[in-house]
Amino acid sequence: MEFLEVVKRRRTTNGPFLPDPVSEEHQRLLVEVAAMAPSHFNSQPWRFVLVDDRDTIEEVARISADSMTRLLEEGTFWKRYRPYFRFSEEEMEEKRDGIHFDQMPKVLKPFSRQIFSNTGQAVMNRFGVPKTLGEDNRKLVAGSPLLLAVLLDKTEYRPGELSGFYSVFGMGAAVENIWLTTAEIGMGIQFVSTPMEIPENWKRMQDLLQVPDDLELMAVYRLGYVPKEQRRPTIDWSSRQRKRLSQYVFRNTCATPEPDAETSVEPGAR
Ligand SMILES: Cc1cc2nc3c(=O)[nH]c(=O)nc-3n(C[C@H](O)[C@H](O)[C@H](O)COP(=O)(O)O)c2cc1C
Repeated sequence: MEFLEVVKRRRTTNGPFLPDPVSEEHQRLLVEVAAMAPSHFNSQPWRFVLVDDRDTIEEVARISADSMTRLLEEGTFWKRYRPYFRFSEEEMEEKRDGIHFDQMPKVLKPFSRQIFSNTGQAVMNRFGVPKTLGEDNRKLVAGSPLLLAVLLDKTEYRPGELSGFYSVFGMGAAVENIWLTTAEIGMGIQFVSTPMEIPENWKRMQDLLQVPDDLELMAVYRLGYVPKEQRRPTIDWSSRQRKRLSQYVFRNTCATPEPDAETSVEPGAR
């Protein structure tokens, strides 16, 4: 693919992957492109764990599902992420960021009007909605042929110091290289993020991956080959919508927004 085509096609895959194992060649490629990223003083503070062991993947899936269920039951999820949900085309068109909540999982439909209220929360819990969505999440993660854990070397990753910021910056560049490469080789990638939100579950992940004291576990992804026919998943946390130039670019000073123009990189279709 042409480079710009790859950039346009890069996506978050929140549906299922094919069950096929990720080839050794592709696993190697993903970590090699990661290492091509820039880092402060070429420190290369990133480390990766490629996980293709079934038992480990299934345990991560259980931790992820348990985290999802708890975040939903306790209402943390809706409270924390409410600002990112958009409820109409008009709102999406105006803000041009966030996620359009236009297709909700079947189990949530009866509660659509009260989803963000305390009563709605109680009713959803009574109907076992968090458990159903947790189980959906478990299946997605368990059905992934490959997980990738991203870690940082703690001698560089010192939160609050410039080196800590630089390390995160470099890690983001490394992950973007991986993300772009998945688009080139027919693979997809998605954060397995819920365990990070519950400290004891994040600790379970660290123990499972045997993370040593000198490394910090930063993120876990699930990866696999993407089926040709992709149905839009019930929980679709990704969006193709992007801000207009005038909403995020300025000319010379922050006082002058850049005028809007025809975009030269139109995001790829869903
Ligand atoms: C720091 C970060 C955290 C994210 N967390 C999640 C996540 O928890 N779950 C998920 O499915 N996607 C997650 N995403 C992906 C975003 O939702 C996605 O990039 C955005 O909606 C745009 O969609 P696209 O990647 O398909 O273009 C995350 C992305 C970033 C950079």
